Amino acid sequence: MRTAHARVSQRATDPDAATEALANDVRFYLNQNPRQLPSKYLYDALGSALFDAICQLPWYRVTRAELALLARHAPDILGAFAPGDRLVELGPGNGAKLATLVAGGLPPKLPIEVHLVDVSDAALATAARGLTGFESLRIVTHEATYETGLLQVSREAGGERRTMVLFLGSNIGNFDPDAGVAFLRKVRSALRSGDSLLLGADLRKPEETLKLAYDDPLGLTAAFNLNLLVRLNRELDADISLEGFRHEALWNEEASRVEMHLVSRKSQRIRIPRAGVDLTLRDGERIWTESSYKYEPIQITRLLERCGFRVRSQWVDNDARFALTLAAGD
Ligand code: AVI
Repeated sequence: MRTAHARVSQRATDPDAATEALANDVRFYLNQNPRQLPSKYLYDALGSALFDAICQLPWYRVTRAELALLARHAPDILGAFAPGDRLVELGPGNGAKLATLVAGGLPPKLPIEVHLVDVSDAALATAARGLTGFESLRIVTHEATYETGLLQVSREAGGERRTMVLFLGSNIGNFDPDAGVAFLRKVRSALRSGDSLLLGADLRKPEETLKLAYDDPLGLTAAFNLNLLVRLNRELDADISLEGFRHEALWNEEASRVEMHLVSRKSQRIRIPRAGVDLTLRDGERIWTESSYKYEPIQITRLLERCGFRVRSQWVDNDARFALTLAAGD
């Protein structure tokens, strides 16, 4: 007998509000010193497609390393799962990580709930499509920020059902340390006794390796970064010339992070009408678009403990330098 595959959607965002939030953020962050643009805006439809392509680059090993760890350790990760238990993935991408975990760690007919949380409806549809082969999963999509999605999920918790939150892909690396702590504490407070968090994080590695991963010879990461300007042109009526900027990825040893910047190739005036921005950039002036923090395994353990978790297992790929950490919420 096949268990029905259900999909329940919970929407929480509206397009006008999203454009207004973009405009407000662009105005605020471009006027900071140093000038910045939040990395979350890298992921429009084209940016997400470019990121998927980056994950296939030989120089960017995060995704492959994580998938291999998930496949190898799925039985340990999901071994205790019982009917009705829940997997909640924050930022599920194309659903491949969850599919790998479920395929390797659960008996084929075990009925469990899968909650996918993302601000992008398109991303949720892609992720849900990636899970269509699993008939026993009840898939619930939450078009919401991670925090709101988690709240929606925790409100539905009940009985003996256990919840495992997945925060994979080294997305934690894109948080500044304080924001990362605040975020993990929120995840912790959404969990109940018996629940857990599976965290994937990229590790420190030689500078040359990181430079190739974030400034690849095919230019995909450069396109990913420059696409942010394409987005400002399209969504905020800007008229920024892409030729006026170049992509830069640099390793900040002290902060243990790779930084992506858009560097102005000349002195130029930038107007973004819908954001009320009118500014002049110097030749060589940078707009900081992303931080990608790199950790040591012990730092991940300490970070989780600081946020109220107890680390149960940690699996490390020492070649690609990537860690998967399973932590209990009690
Ligand atoms: C999504 N995130 C973990 C990626 C990273 O490695 O920081 C985004 C990325 N930026 C450049 N390449 C990939």
